[in-house]
Amino acid sequence: MKLRPLILTSLLALTASAALAGTGVQVDVYKSPYCGCCTKWVEHLRSEGFEVKSHNVEDVPAQRARLGMPETYGSCHTARIGNYLVEGHVPAADVRRLLKDKPKAIGLAVPSMPPGSPGMESAKPMPYETLLISANGSSSVFARH
Ligand code: CU
Ligand code: CU
Repeated sequence: MKLRPLILTSLLALTASAALAGTGVQVDVYKSPYCGCCTKWVEHLRSEGFEVKSHNVEDVPAQRARLGMPETYGSCHTARIGNYLVEGHVPAADVRRLLKDKPKAIGLAVPSMPPGSPGMESAKPMPYETLLISANGSSSVFARH
């Protein structure tokens, strides 16, 4: 009795990731060639079924500005997924929800580099928030981790 909802949830999650992998939504990541945590985030997305193309750039803030993510939410890498931008160590589950819910927004950001976020694995994880960034540059909490 107790198992059933759990099995259903896992099945739904599996179906969701399979469906996403099938859509071929490509993630373009702009990162510094000298940053290891960016590579670990890319691996996190790939392990979750995302197709990721990694671009090494010398000037990440310049790319961030070019793509249109406000500097105040800056982290170590900026990604473009469809019409959305994803800044920093955002968990794949949040990206999946963004693509499913399709809110009107620039995208998501985990500013700075909180220890414990995907790619920033740490023995001392800290609570952090994924922010939804609106077109006017304001933000709201999308998820708490
Ligand atoms: Cu990082
Ligand atoms: Cu990074």
